[in-house]
Amino acid sequence: MQSYAITTAYLVATALFIFSLHWMSDPKTARRGVFAGIAAMLAAVLATWAGNKIVEHWWIIIPIAAAIIPGVWLSMVPLTAVPQRTALSHAFGGLAAGLVGTAEYYYWFSHEPEQLSAFRMTAIIAEVILGYLTFTGSLIAAGKLQEVKWIPQRPWTYRGQNFVNLGALALAILLGVLLIVRPTTGWAPWVFGLVIIPLALNFGWMMVMPIGGADMPTVISILNSYAGLSAVAMGFVLDNKLLITAGALDGSSGLILSIIMCRAMNRSFFNVLFGAFGQIAAGAKEGERKSAKSASAEEAAQMLGMAGRVVIVPGYGMAVAQAQHRVRELYDQLSKRGVDVKFAIHPVAGRMPGHMNVLLAEADIPYDRLIEMEEINTDMPQTDVVLVIGANDVVNPAARHDKTSPIYGMPIIEADKARAVLAIKRSMNPGFAGIDNELYYMDNTLMVFGDAKVVVGDIAKQLTGHAGH
Ligand code: TAP
Repeated sequence: MQSYAITTAYLVATALFIFSLHWMSDPKTARRGVFAGIAAMLAAVLATWAGNKIVEHWWIIIPIAAAIIPGVWLSMVPLTAVPQRTALSHAFGGLAAGLVGTAEYYYWFSHEPEQLSAFRMTAIIAEVILGYLTFTGSLIAAGKLQEVKWIPQRPWTYRGQNFVNLGALALAILLGVLLIVRPTTGWAPWVFGLVIIPLALNFGWMMVMPIGGADMPTVISILNSYAGLSAVAMGFVLDNKLLITAGALDGSSGLILSIIMCRAMNRSFFNVLFGAFGQIAAGAKEGERKSAKSASAEEAAQMLGMAGRVVIVPGYGMAVAQAQHRVRELYDQLSKRGVDVKFAIHPVAGRMPGHMNVLLAEADIPYDRLIEMEEINTDMPQTDVVLVIGANDVVNPAARHDKTSPIYGMPIIEADKARAVLAIKRSMNPGFAGIDNELYYMDNTLMVFGDAKVVVGDIAKQLTGHAGH
């Protein structure tokens, strides 16, 4: 009876995980998706606990209680820190998978060596290698994103690095194959604990060190898929079907997300992992620097107030400044005056997928005003003013024509095709890709310098004071 109830709970949890992913793909149902995911995880944990015949319940209660403290703390980080928070979650997931694999191997080795079949050993080796490399790789990725002082942000490279890294991984796999063939010989536990595990731990951080901070969000989603795959392997080791399905969903969604991100940045997987991006991209071309024109918040308000159609392009700077609520006030003011305001959403604006959607939703901006890049680009020539708020790379026309640019080929929001452009940022400093933006020097562009929250707030205030047009 009990096992029937547990199997049913696992089935319900699996279905809820699938629905959760489906619902999360649309802003209208995303909230439901989050609750479905929570319910699925709760059902999975409770059902597994109910089936526990191995340890005293205290051994389960104490770690859960202890984990709640860092869990609550991690859930309270600001939205801009979510990528590094996610990396930390993957690190813990990878560590858990690695530790379970290690414990299972040593337990079976000394108590039930007949359990170490070739199939199970293959799963253990995959679990341990993927789990431990995800652990150290994700820690470094989180550190780079958090800009921890002692971790270099720039790619850390040396000659023959790819050879050394891949050599270490190949050696770990080779020894793993040896253990699959001979899991119970005298030297096996030593090779397992003293060579394979350290090699996997080392490969993780060595793999991420040469990758620039700029590519870290993509790397995190690749590590997400590794963590998912290690959970699949753990499912095979523990003979737990729910772990296999949940891990497969996690692994494949991480992989799909990395592919979407690479495509939106016009980068290949290979290039992200081995390209040391960000190393040569820094610095604008010297000698051809033109001067940009600037405007005050008051002038910007006048231009916007007189426009018929306005497109707002939010970017990373809006997230840093937490300007979304001021943007909402501006949207209200302009809409009141009969200005048609739309928001152009670039798939990689900000630092994580859906970053802009989440912020604008937080400020209650209607979803139907958020327009995807391809669609909004057709409107650009009929747009009176494009207001760029803390966006840079995603509106850089060099992506269309400059073959030497590191962002060449990346689809962009074509703000330069509008009648006028207002760009809010604090300085002429480059964005994520470290390159100059010719949009800012164009004849029809005016820079409005300052923190996005302050400037957008000022513009909205100016519009409140205006009598109308
Ligand atoms: P960026 O190109 O990074 O530019 C952001 C701009 O915001 C900067 O130029 C900065 O200029 C400005 N800024 C920063 N703080 C500000 C503040 N408080 N007030 C006003 N402006 C501020 O951003 P983007 O256009 O959103 O492009 C995103 C980039 O990230 C792309 O290159 C993309 O490939 C990359 N990326 C994105 C993702 C995802 S999934 N979204 C993943 C990996 C990589 P100042 O310093 O002069 O203010």
